[in-house]
Amino acid sequence: MSVPGLVIREARPQDEAACIAIERASFADPWHDENFTRLVTVQREHIRVAEQDGVVVGYWIGSRIDDEAELANLAVDPSRRRGGVGGQLLDHFLQHVGAHQRTTVFLEVRASNVGAQELYLRRGFEAIQRRKGYYSQPIEDAVVMVRVPRAV
Ligand SMILES: CC(C)(COP(=O)(O)OP(=O)(O)OC[C@H]1O[C@@H](n2cnc3c(N)ncnc32)[C@H](O)[C@@H]1OP(=O)(O)O)[C@@H](O)C(=O)NCCC(=O)NCCS
Repeated sequence: MSVPGLVIREARPQDEAACIAIERASFADPWHDENFTRLVTVQREHIRVAEQDGVVVGYWIGSRIDDEAELANLAVDPSRRRGGVGGQLLDHFLQHVGAHQRTTVFLEVRASNVGAQELYLRRGFEAIQRRKGYYSQPIEDAVVMVRVPRAV
């Protein structure tokens, strides 16, 4: 079910501050601000933002090469969580990269981040591997998850 008033659209340079604020509020080891500067200006094909009531409330960042895609980042403003925004962003990314046809999607998630893992499991991902000490601040394993397109 779609979230009322939610629009997922291309990013614009003026979205940079909102994305950085969500990133900092979402991760103990946030991406550097410069990554977002590049994403909303010259790498815009790799990011989409979710806007609700004129406010940026989340984003996905990812890419696809041939039949493989990587979801590099997904985050929702803490005040808007558990309302379906993350699920809708993930659905948009899966659609965008052709995950329902032929594209296999990979991602990494902190081992302790069971909420995000639950979201991914519900969308057909499975855990395939653990990367020891992959994350810093705090040091923690990554769970590698994959979503293989199902035969129809
Ligand atoms: C993970 C995240 C993007 C989910 O966004 P969201 O808008 O809350 O997601 P949704 O409301 O669409 O949740 C969909 C489902 O995911 C699961 N889920 C999401 N957050 C959860 C949590 N904290 N605990 C347990 N399950 C959770 C639930 O199954 C949920 O369905 P329900 O609300 O009907 O129970 C958001 O919590 C977030 O930005 N977290 C910080 C950044 C992050 O961890 N990103 C992922 C990095 S790999």
